[in-house]
Amino acid sequence: MAYSLKNKVVVITGSSGGLGAAAAQALAKKGARLALFDLREQDATAQAKGLGASVDAKGWGVDVCSLESVAAAMAAAKKHFGRIDIVIANAGIGLPCRVVIVWLRKPPGCCVH
Ligand SMILES: NC(=O)c1ccc[n+]([C@@H]2O[C@H](COP(=O)([O-])OP(=O)(O)OC[C@H]3O[C@@H](n4cnc5c(N)ncnc54)[C@H](O)[C@@H]3O)[C@@H](O)[C@H]2O)c1
Repeated sequence: MAYSLKNKVVVITGSSGGLGAAAAQALAKKGARLALFDLREQDATAQAKGLGASVDAKGWGVDVCSLESVAAAMAAAKKHFGRIDIVIANAGIGLPCRVVIVWLRKPPGCCVH
């Protein structure tokens, strides 16, 4: 049996980034209600608005490195939506996808063999 996301309240941290925004859009299409957490409140608020009037979404400015910030936002989201069903802990910083090539050369005048 498929798990229905209709009216489920989903918190997404790092919601405005690549994966978070994609998850928000996919969940919105499934009828979920979204609590969008990202560092800058204006980004999360604009994201909620950008999902359209038919989507029940609200943004909060949250720093997941701060327990106080997360606790305050979770409490605010629970108060706003009445409950929280799912949390997607997505916020984070990825390593840059670059390969650093270090070319080791014997410095001029080096006598080590
Ligand atoms: N994109 C990938 O292929 C990939 C692969 C493996 C793991 N990941 C991990 O998944 C997560 C999301 O990846 P992404 O590509 O969407 O990254 P992204 O940089 O596009 O988005 C990350 C989001 O997290 C937010 N954020 C950063 N620090 C925060 C904090 N302290 N509190 C709240 N929000 C914060 C940023 O503002 C941003 O909106 C990262 O942790 C990344 O390391 C990504």
